Amino acid sequence: MARLDITDLSKRYGGQWAVENVTLDVPQGEFLVLLGPSGCGKTTTLRMIAGFVQPSGGAIRIGPRDVTDLPPWKRNTGMVFQSYALFPHMSVAANVGFGLEMRKVPKAEIAPRVAEALRLVRLDRYSERYPRELSGGQQQRVALARALAIRPDVLLLDEPLSNLDAKLREEVRIEIRELQQRLGLTTVMVTHDQEEALTVADRLVVMAEGRVRQIGTQQDLYERPADRFVASFVGRSTFLEGEARPFPQRGRARPRLRRQRARRLGARAQARTARHRAGGGDRQPPARPRRDPVLSRPDDRSPCAALARRPRRGSPAEPAGCSDAEGRGRGSGRMGTGCRHAVCRSGVTWR
Ligand SMILES: Nc1ncnc2c1ncn2[C@@H]1O[C@H](COP(=O)(O)OP(=O)(O)OP(=O)(O)O)[C@@H](O)[C@H]1O
Ligand SMILES: [Mg+2]
Repeated sequence: MARLDITDLSKRYGGQWAVENVTLDVPQGEFLVLLGPSGCGKTTTLRMIAGFVQPSGGAIRIGPRDVTDLPPWKRNTGMVFQSYALFPHMSVAANVGFGLEMRKVPKAEIAPRVAEALRLVRLDRYSERYPRELSGGQQQRVALARALAIRPDVLLLDEPLSNLDAKLREEVRIEIRELQQRLGLTTVMVTHDQEEALTVADRLVVMAEGRVRQIGTQQDLYERPADRFVASFVGRSTFLEGEARPFPQRGRARPRLRRQRARRLGARAQARTARHRAGGGDRQPPARPRRDPVLSRPDDRSPCAALARRPRRGSPAEPAGCSDAEGRGRGSGRMGTGCRHAVCRSGVTWR
């Protein structure tokens, strides 16, 4: 197990860039997932890390070693290919042991390591079978056991679940995640499947057209997508066209004030409910008294408005024209039309 550092990795086929300036740091034990549309360069990136494709530029380090120019068998990476790539003429045990033989592991050590790897993927009873005698899911797990048997510094998985049915896919991805955590394996996995990616990944890399668009946790990608492509590719989004402008100076305090007011009102409502419950009430707590939208306007400064808010019989402030209101307190009525105050003349209905 080791950390993986990729710097400005590029691959050009003819005149086309399949991968362009990809830079990734994968700490030891991290599960990183490469996500992106078909043809965006995920497999090419993985194959360059494994050593099966020679980069056109950039560097790959596994732990302290620069492995950019090393052949695959000297890198200690374990790779599970999109198409399993099992040897059809070899038994399951021989397939799993192949990588160990290539690395010149002593013969006495090979059998127990093969058995251990097959136990990890729960295929220990199938060691003498041939790939054609296994289901797709079992073949995929043999490919995983083959990658695990070499105890890789970095595990590379290229759509390892693509040929499984939905139920098996879910089971195997949970198994892979548990195994990865138990063994502390630095892992890079490629997938199209977002649900799969979000289930297993510590961090995700979104790629498009050979380039990295964003690296982050699923929360980063959902809540702070780097661009429109990431926002549209990860999850489902609704786009609203508009223009973002900074708040004007005066407006800056407003959201805070609104929040404070909401908190104050919330606290009052809670207190009211508590009082109501303490009094043994089992119905809804009493609603707040409604304020008249017109009479409570701050510019309604006429004595009539004041009277309507707090009517008092015989008050010296009571204007002559408001006789209709007289004596009715906060009941209902219509302001007298002869009143000299604008608010009364407007014939506002009040209560
Ligand atoms: N050997 C090759 N020769 C020429 N072009 C290639 C070669 N291998 C890959 N490419 C091109 O490089 C680009 C990236 O291919 P790659 O296989 O990395 O995509 P991918 O993201 O893995 O796609 P998918 O999700 O379909 O597997 C594609 O446009 C592909 O056609
Ligand atoms: Mg691919």
